[in-house]
Amino acid sequence: MTDSDRQQLVTEFYDRWAAPYAHLAHHAPYVRRFRRRAINRLELERGDIAVDMGCGPGVNLDQLAHAVGPDGHVIGIDIAPVMLERARRETPAAVSFVRGDATQPPLAHGIDGILATFVVTLFDDPGEVVYTWWEMLEPGGRLALVNLGPGRGPFGPLINPVLDIGLRLSTPTAEQFDDDLVTLLSERVTSAHGRLTELADHVVYDDMDGVLRLVVGTKGLDE
Ligand SMILES: C[S@@+](CC[C@H](N)C(=O)[O-])C[C@H]1O[C@@H](n2cnc3c(N)ncnc32)[C@H](O)[C@@H]1O
Repeated sequence: MTDSDRQQLVTEFYDRWAAPYAHLAHHAPYVRRFRRRAINRLELERGDIAVDMGCGPGVNLDQLAHAVGPDGHVIGIDIAPVMLERARRETPAAVSFVRGDATQPPLAHGIDGILATFVVTLFDDPGEVVYTWWEMLEPGGRLALVNLGPGRGPFGPLINPVLDIGLRLSTPTAEQFDDDLVTLLSERVTSAHGRLTELADHVVYDDMDGVLRLVVGTKGLDE
């Protein structure tokens, strides 16, 4: 499958499922808490520029806009036009929307905060994408990633088969992979979160039994 075939598959998949996905994204209880924590950890200030990579139906955008205030600027970028249209409709705050590929964002550098919730593990080389995003940050800027991951501890063996089914149903390219998708997810989370940990001056982690994971890295002031 070529890159452009894959992009088309991903776009069509998310556009088809935009309505039920939006409902899930707005209401999944623990997930809401992790979104809030991620945005708080970006420590955005009035007048800052923030980007939501793969913003989907726009669940994070209001809170980001509130954090940067009327003098700031929030940009939601997504590849799927129906998702983006839904985000535009459902976001009361002043936000700019860009249809584009978040692995090569068509945006200028000089960003204060980048957020990517349930996005980076969709990419073949998440560590490389993290590096691309990192390069777009101002010194002192922050990158926050929220992702699903394999369950740990006593509940892991119970949760992971259910997670595998969930991933099979919600991953547009699932049929390409013979391995179980929990293993693939684990590799991709390690790649993304590991790269951010290497790059950052300061890192904060948070997780819920491994299944929900947050990592926020701060760029050094001298970078
Ligand atoms: C699982 S959803 C997450 C949406 C949102 N971040 C959230 O937390 O609800 C993944 C989103 O990433 C978008 N996406 C997938 N590949 C992309 C790419 N290469 N560039 C931009 N957006 C992409 C999809 O269209 C979809 O809206």
